[in-house]
Amino acid sequence: MTTTGIIKGIIANLVLIEPNGPVRQNEICYLSTGAENEKLIAEVIKISGNTVFAQVFDSTRGIQCGTEVVFSGSMLEVYLGPGLLSKNYDGLQNDLDKLEGLFLQRGKQAYPLNDTQLWQFEPLAQPGAILSAGDWLGKVPEHGLQHIIMVPFNWHQRLTLQWVAPPGHYTIQETIAILTDHNGKEHPLNMVRKWPVKLPMRAYRQKLRPQKLLETGIRIMDTLHPMLEGGTGFIPGPFGCGKTVLQQSIAKQADADVVVVAACGERANELVDIFAEFPELVDPRTGNKLIERTVIIGNTSNMPVSAREASVYTAMTICEYYRNMGLRVLLLADSTSRWAQALREMSNRLEDLPGPDAYPVDLPAVIANFYARAGMVELNNGKTGSITFIGTVSPAGGNFKEPVTEATKKATRCFYALSQRRADSKRYPAIDPIESYSKYTEYPEFAASMAHIAGNRWLQQVQQLKNYLLKGKEAADQINILGDDGVSIDFHLHFWRAELIDFVLLQQDAFDTVDQLTPLNRQQFMTGLCLYICNQSFMFDNFVETRSFFKKIINALRQMNYTQFKSDAFNSYANEVNQLINLHLALQNN
Ligand SMILES: Nc1ncnc2c1ncn2[C@@H]1O[C@H](COP(=O)(O)OP(=O)(O)OP(=O)(O)O)[C@@H](O)[C@H]1O
Ligand SMILES: [Mg+2]
Repeated sequence: MTTTGIIKGIIANLVLIEPNGPVRQNEICYLSTGAENEKLIAEVIKISGNTVFAQVFDSTRGIQCGTEVVFSGSMLEVYLGPGLLSKNYDGLQNDLDKLEGLFLQRGKQAYPLNDTQLWQFEPLAQPGAILSAGDWLGKVPEHGLQHIIMVPFNWHQRLTLQWVAPPGHYTIQETIAILTDHNGKEHPLNMVRKWPVKLPMRAYRQKLRPQKLLETGIRIMDTLHPMLEGGTGFIPGPFGCGKTVLQQSIAKQADADVVVVAACGERANELVDIFAEFPELVDPRTGNKLIERTVIIGNTSNMPVSAREASVYTAMTICEYYRNMGLRVLLLADSTSRWAQALREMSNRLEDLPGPDAYPVDLPAVIANFYARAGMVELNNGKTGSITFIGTVSPAGGNFKEPVTEATKKATRCFYALSQRRADSKRYPAIDPIESYSKYTEYPEFAASMAHIAGNRWLQQVQQLKNYLLKGKEAADQINILGDDGVSIDFHLHFWRAELIDFVLLQQDAFDTVDQLTPLNRQQFMTGLCLYICNQSFMFDNFVETRSFFKKIINALRQMNYTQFKSDAFNSYANEVNQLINLHLALQNN
């Protein structure tokens, strides 16, 4: 029997319900608004005595005490199946393309998949096979990827494959396999799976440590602070420092099979930008349209707060689904602060005991558990799949000591701190090279993998870059205090070496078609060139001469960044750099 209930109280989008039967934490219930075909979805977030607290994923305008509520018996679930790629959903997986206008009308739902489209199915398992949760049954092509149809992820027992559909075209609702359990009961399966978003999808053999670089084409990340496939990282930054631009660059350029973008609590116009821009963009690696490997989950800041929370979970669940197909998935969430704010608003309404800055006491655990769903896994069939997760955090006033930044820092391994000073001086991406870090550089597996891809000397060279940057910062501090004339020429030399690395390697124009994406081999080339220059024992008479020499070199090197790799123009700038160096060395040695 389904449980129903009566609304006893309403506080903004929190409703207090008196149920007439058992109710589970996180269960979904429906509120009728009185209008036909209109129901509001709500999630149970607390049960206390005979009162159920549910957050409504919509405006509660017009809802009155005494309204009936029907409990669904299941948690918030998403539909998983062929056709997810290139879709735009909201946090409750409503298909935003099926709507008139950008906003979903209250109480309306839009089914996320297409029931009538035909998919070319090919079986991967043979009748008689013993299968368990997550095992591969068959595949259908989806935008150039092999979309794997799997055994439902919550089946705990082993089942026998009795029948599998022959190769052919099927809709997602048609039966493509029949499994029998140990009691002989038959379970027909179609291509659609459902999964409760708040539960991690396991159905894999084991978690592995990340080891391989996730190439993003962004020099300061790949070279200095690498993100790995299956790694976690976050980008904290004050308002307007370039979090969104950086994340969108990563979304466009990263070497992943599937990219899920969760725009949670972003401004509506930025979301419209994504929807408008993505379908036009071409994947620089494959030549396909970028949108074909992307799923966008959009929750703008004018949608109800509670839907933001759902959107990050919905995004993560879609990632887990594609990961279980043995794919490399990248999840980007902008911004997780707005999600934390949603949690805060809810816990305040529930009158829970507040933690630091009025966030819920368990905020660090919620964040850590969420980031823990990312990672690299070995699937039941020995193949690997990964979810790389990069979130942004917008700490108020750029204060990195606030609870969301602190909690996220503990839960992640890469830290890309955006600095207000760098953004103010238009040094984009404004990632602070010294404060930021990637803990993966300490992994021996990563060192081995990099040696294989980029040669044995690569990590040593990167360390050299870091040392030069550190020395440059110390020198800059001294020059600031003592003045240009107050320090020896060595300080100026240190300062300008770091400036050279900064201007040539760290700064990158996200809006220039060439500069925006630097493949690893080009990064290696430029790193080698910068180190070659920094390692020269230049001598200068005074700091003015140092400055003018380095400015000329930096100028030519920056022009190289804006031209096609190894093109004539590129080579001629490289010659110019060489001539400048040789001329100076010849003069100083005379
Ligand atoms: N790599 C870059 N190259 C060139 N310009 C950039 C780059 N990164 C950021 N910018 C500039 O900085 C501006 C602000 O960036 P962005 O909107 O990403 O900031 P944000 O941190 O997301 O801000 P908010 O906190 O308000 O969401 C951009 O409009 C752009 O002009
Ligand atoms: Mg932003």
